[in-house]
Amino acid sequence: MRHLSVPKRDTQTFLKELRSLNWYPEGYRVLRDGEKSLIPISDSAPADLPTSYIIVDREQDAPAAKNWFSLLPKFLSEEIIEEHLGTWPNSHELYSDLLIFKIEREIEQYAQQVALAKIHHSPKIRVVMLDEGVIGEYRVRNLKPLAARFGEQIIDVEGISNLPEETRKTLISSNVKIRENGTSLLLNPSIAYYSSRLAGEREKTVESAIQLKEKLGRPISVADPYCGVGPAVVQLLAQHELVGDLLATDINPEAIKMLKRNLGEIKESWYCKIADALKLNKHQNLLGRFDLLLMNLPHSTLQHLPQLLPLLKTNAPTLLKGWYVVEEEEIPSAEAEFSKVIHQTKTFNGNFKLEIRRQFNSTKVLTRFECRLGDW
Ligand SMILES: C[S@@+](CC[C@H](N)C(=O)[O-])C[C@H]1O[C@@H](n2cnc3c(N)ncnc32)[C@H](O)[C@@H]1O
Repeated sequence: MRHLSVPKRDTQTFLKELRSLNWYPEGYRVLRDGEKSLIPISDSAPADLPTSYIIVDREQDAPAAKNWFSLLPKFLSEEIIEEHLGTWPNSHELYSDLLIFKIEREIEQYAQQVALAKIHHSPKIRVVMLDEGVIGEYRVRNLKPLAARFGEQIIDVEGISNLPEETRKTLISSNVKIRENGTSLLLNPSIAYYSSRLAGEREKTVESAIQLKEKLGRPISVADPYCGVGPAVVQLLAQHELVGDLLATDINPEAIKMLKRNLGEIKESWYCKIADALKLNKHQNLLGRFDLLLMNLPHSTLQHLPQLLPLLKTNAPTLLKGWYVVEEEEIPSAEAEFSKVIHQTKTFNGNFKLEIRRQFNSTKVLTRFECRLGDW
């Protein structure tokens, strides 16, 4: 590799100059040579460089890209990168060969460059999408494909839009199959809700369900009225003889389509269909039928709970488990309201507690509650 030999004190000036000309190969090191610095020169620089300084040839190992961020200078100037240090999106969600990331508003104009750096860094990624948040009643993701791997080539938004329609559809499809806590799941976050961030919560749900089964000495009946594509029920069903009866419903028809594929076998007695959770209590055959009730519509838990509680059995110990998004400072008043609703069942003697799981946004938190009802 060619290197420009310059006096040590001039290193930064030349480095800056080479970078501005795009002649600096990012990731390679500046070498020391006595009182001189050897600055690597990229292969794309002309053979005849307009300089009176000496060009020397030195071997350098190709740099291993440590993370996607080390590739960002390929797409954005150092000045821009430095101006926004601390804001660049380090985290992302990886669903098989689909990578999803969010970006702060102040740097959203650089989302394309971030996507290119991320896809260049991960050779197994097929498509990188910007996550513009969940939308609508179905809580589906608003995803924008920004970079894709098309054969040997990496293409950006423009390249994607120039592909023939069928090719484009396949390349940017968000249908994926993933593994979570030892189970397989088909999902598509742009048509049915799914978040890997809740995988830890589901693991805990399995633990709670096993405790309930041990308490009752038999397989338990589970109601998951906001089941999405079924990550929680799939993991409960994967446990030997843990689940007997099952209700898995969602208001989103696409979620139920995927749920059915994820469950494979569906027993005739199970209730797995499209349904509005608020109307389940109109079905007499569902009332007092379940040992475990999962409340996973975290913005509306409190409003929905009175309609769903009647699904729980009243003649045996039962478990109510749910999640709730709330302003952190309003936790005590929310606990009091939940407590009022749950005490109406006359089967709850405990203290209702909302346990903070993580920050939801700058002021709100995602909380979890677990209540043992009946005679434990
Ligand atoms: C936060 S997601 C949880 C999905 C799933 N339990 C999971 O952990 O992936 C909430 C789900 O509730 C569904 N939903 C919204 N309103 C509903 C309602 N009134 N009745 C039933 N499902 C509803 C949405 O379609 C979405 O799939």
